Amino acid sequence: MAYRIPDSWLDELRSRTDIVDLVADYVELKQKGRRFWGRCPFHGEKTPSFSVDSESQMYYCFGCHKGGTAIHFVMEMERMEFMDSVRFLAERAHMELPERDEGPSSDETRTLKERIYAANVEAARFYHAMIWKPEGAEALNYLHRRGLDDAGIRRFGLGATGVGWDTLTRHLISNGYTLEELKKAGLSGEKDGRQYDLFRNRAIFPIINPQGKVLGFGGRIMGDGNPKYLNTSDTPVFNKRQGLYALNMAKKERGLTRLILVEGYMDVVSLRQKGIEGVVATLGTALTEEQARLIKRYAPEVWVCYDGDSAGQKAILRALDIFDEQEVAARVIDIPGGMDPDDFVKEKGVEGFEALRPMKPSEYRMIRAADGLDLSTQDGRTQYAIACCSILRKVANPVELENYLTKLVVQTGFDKEVLMRQIGMTNVSSSKEHTETVRPKLRPKPKEVPEFMKAERMLVNLMAAGYIGDEFSPENVFVTPLYARLAEGLRAGEKPAGLLEKLNDEERGEAARALLDESGIERDKIPQAVAECLTKIRLHRLDEEISRVKQELKDETEPERRSALMNHLVQLTNERGLTRRV
Ligand code: GTP
Ligand code: MN
Repeated sequence: MAYRIPDSWLDELRSRTDIVDLVADYVELKQKGRRFWGRCPFHGEKTPSFSVDSESQMYYCFGCHKGGTAIHFVMEMERMEFMDSVRFLAERAHMELPERDEGPSSDETRTLKERIYAANVEAARFYHAMIWKPEGAEALNYLHRRGLDDAGIRRFGLGATGVGWDTLTRHLISNGYTLEELKKAGLSGEKDGRQYDLFRNRAIFPIINPQGKVLGFGGRIMGDGNPKYLNTSDTPVFNKRQGLYALNMAKKERGLTRLILVEGYMDVVSLRQKGIEGVVATLGTALTEEQARLIKRYAPEVWVCYDGDSAGQKAILRALDIFDEQEVAARVIDIPGGMDPDDFVKEKGVEGFEALRPMKPSEYRMIRAADGLDLSTQDGRTQYAIACCSILRKVANPVELENYLTKLVVQTGFDKEVLMRQIGMTNVSSSKEHTETVRPKLRPKPKEVPEFMKAERMLVNLMAAGYIGDEFSPENVFVTPLYARLAEGLRAGEKPAGLLEKLNDEERGEAARALLDESGIERDKIPQAVAECLTKIRLHRLDEEISRVKQELKDETEPERRSALMNHLVQLTNERGLTRRV
């Protein structure tokens, strides 16, 4: 998968993609000057602070500080990885992806995938049509009995297999698909020379990805029987470890503050039918790392809401560990009474569900640590305390930790000092080290920018706009690594949009702003502005150097070296005085 696309090809892709046109597919834009403005699709806002520049082919939001090129825009909007976004834009621009060494079969693979997608769509239509026919009555009744209405069935495209051994297979073959293709799609099988449908006598849940492609199906037996659910096995287009059910819906739900992760298709359908947004499920396997990372693209937090039975509880603990590893903020909705979310909303309604308080992972882990222990015995309390202390070792927030400790003192009767020693903190001050090792990742906030950085930004901006040429050499001027890279790139003739592609997410927002932000100064004032910027940066450099020398003087005792440093300091201070007057 990992191969590098040549920069020249990406340049071509960008130049054939009109970013204004692209963004306009998602956002209503109005032209003001040479820029287009709209309401930012990435954060809720009333007044437009999202700007798109057709000349430099970049966007930047002055509200949430996201910025980038068409490729990044598609990554954000379509929740795609870089290569998928490139593919998406290439298709839109009618460009072929550059050749890569992947053997002669790649065309064939691509065609096969397209065939499977097409067969899946046709199968989904067939199943869904079937549910309204007499042959689908059993599935329809079954879903009705489980609380679904017709609108819900339509919304999720649920279906029925109908009767017979190979109804779907025959239908698809008559539509031009070969049995081989259908076997590869996981729709049909063959035994003793006879073809059959893999899904028979089941209610069908199509699995649709965020781009609207049908990847596969889950099939629920109607009533008791085994297996209860049948899922499409892995195919060239489907890997159940990588997707999530109902992501196609979550994609359209902008500004979600959390996703709710449940275990089953029925839970998703049932909660969503009750109007709860952002609900997704794994696809019949335990949560994977890939899925955890995927979740991060949709919301800043995930609430794990698995069945309240013991299997569900174990799965919650495993999921929490995976979310920890992948640095996804998670909470737990603990469904009482061993129920699953579907049963619970049916019994208690949305109000009941919304009244469940999402718990912090440590709180939940502590509850589970008591399972199987008898806290009325000293032995039970000791084991419980030990287990909780190892959980609390990971709590980074001192206030939160204090709350848990207080609770644990009451529950176990141990002194707080003792518990803290067990955690590995001899006294409160040593908890500092402990917080540092597991510091939670902070969301980057736009900071107050110091003057010299504003000056650097303006210089980059003037360079990007082509207003200044070689008045100075960037290596000797820029202090901040990001601006230095941008300036050197621009000086070397790289395009602003091309530069953005080489940066990570955090750098890119600021870079887009530097490359795009209009200084608004008149042409004849530019030399003056450049001089002022250079002075500000020079002053900053001198200040840094002065404080470095002062620091060195403090620790230096050797007389000769001291006098050299003093001389240097005088020089620097003089230069600073002169620079200031310029
Ligand atoms: P209902 O009984 O229909 O409410 O199912 P549920 O949504 O409560 O599902 P359950 O908790 O039993 O299982 C959760 C998920 O695990 C399902 O949605 C399936 O994806 C998967 N699953 C359950 N049973 C089976 C099975 O027998 N085989 C396979 N492959 N997956 C299953
Ligand atoms: Mn259930």
